[in-house]
Amino acid sequence: MVTYRSTMVERIDLPSRETRERRLEEAGYNVFNLAAADVFVDLLTDSGTGTMSNDQWAALIRGDESYAGSRSFERLESAVEDVMGFPRVVPAHQGRGAENVLYGTLLEEGDVVLNNTHFDTTRAHVANQGADPVDCPVDAAFDLESAGADAGAGTGADSETDSHEFAGNFSLERARSVVDDAGEGAVSVVIQTITNNSAAGQPVSVENTRRVRRFADEIDATFVIDACRFAENAAFVRERENEFSDASIDEIAREQLGYADAVVMSGKKDGLANIGGFVATTDRDLLAECKQRAILYEGFPTYGGMAGRDMEAMAVGLREAVEDAYATDRIEQVRTFGRLLEDAGVPIYTPVGGHAVYLDAAAALPHVPSAEFPGQALVCELYREGGVRGVELGSFAFPDTDRPELVRLALPRRTYHRDHLEHVAETARTVLEKREAVSGLELASEPSIPELRHFTAELRPVSR
Ligand code: F0G
Repeated sequence: MVTYRSTMVERIDLPSRETRERRLEEAGYNVFNLAAADVFVDLLTDSGTGTMSNDQWAALIRGDESYAGSRSFERLESAVEDVMGFPRVVPAHQGRGAENVLYGTLLEEGDVVLNNTHFDTTRAHVANQGADPVDCPVDAAFDLESAGADAGAGTGADSETDSHEFAGNFSLERARSVVDDAGEGAVSVVIQTITNNSAAGQPVSVENTRRVRRFADEIDATFVIDACRFAENAAFVRERENEFSDASIDEIAREQLGYADAVVMSGKKDGLANIGGFVATTDRDLLAECKQRAILYEGFPTYGGMAGRDMEAMAVGLREAVEDAYATDRIEQVRTFGRLLEDAGVPIYTPVGGHAVYLDAAAALPHVPSAEFPGQALVCELYREGGVRGVELGSFAFPDTDRPELVRLALPRRTYHRDHLEHVAETARTVLEKREAVSGLELASEPSIPELRHFTAELRPVSR
């Protein structure tokens, strides 16, 4: 049940088919190049695109813009302590700013970093320090065949064969084999990303977090949790991990996050804010060093690139994100979206994760080979057909990897209604009905950094 109502609205328009066709061509078949005004339902990301509550808007007015020691910073720190259990915070302008502060402090050239799956910016920041980012997902993470595997309550155990209920888990088996190869002492940081954005937003069990904590102790590594979507993760834990079936979302969040030495956060996700992020840690030495780097890259450590008013909005947002009704509704809406797409005959990754539904583009467009970017072709068709914007996370975004051809449709928080989701499902149904007419794409121009090509590259339809 949705436990809010809309008291402010923003008009959106579906441009004519002719306009959509033209815009797509002008954008070089890359939806990052579209003007937002030309998009009807924008599912490009759940990051910073959600709706703030009236309490968040009211809090903006309280913004204390003092350079040092503002009351807004104090309110942010208390919110992080109350909700996440970390009393000391180093703010940053957004998640990747916090990553720069933390990983720039923790890492040295040649270090190995393990993560259930590195999100793009995390991978880039680890690599930027001369360290080697290695993914340790469980086998279930990229098993698209798990369709229909209904996640019931369980123990959250992470034996590698363990079902799809916590497909975001960190694989200790993989991690141990990396340690065996790299040698004792090579791995300095172990990260757990909850939920696992790069593995279809799948959740991570608290039991898995406990095991990773013990593993980090065994190898004497710092244990970091990327907490961007910690509240959504907690909602899944309550649903699926027996031990927590009666716990509140914030109790689960504090239990899970409490195992980490440090958390790195983008407030644009479960901070329910449009901008902001932070590092939080109980380690006093690490905190002191992070503050130094924050001064260099983000700002004085009581604002770190955020306006006082933005810290206020995030402080309120963090508290709202762990309200039981909010967190339950959030994952329920994404699940409903998944069901609507399935009912429309669209192949999706199941079970559905926390913030997005991921479409299986290889199954949707079987006649488009990987070299012709089936995911990107599907993204373009969703826009052409219904003004819907998603993002490709397959061979276009990740060149030279064997990642599945996924398209992510991410739901901004508290923003779209069931009607919008039905429109997207109907759009996808129509695209699939006409799939034979959909052609693949080829690159027309690409930027110098291949890892970033999906943001700016231009494409054109393959002519036959
Ligand atoms: N970590 C994870 C797991 C993320 O999903 C993101 C951002 C970041 C770090 C970086 O945070 O954007 O505030 O700098 N994910 C967005 C997305 C961009 O669309 O998934 P940021």
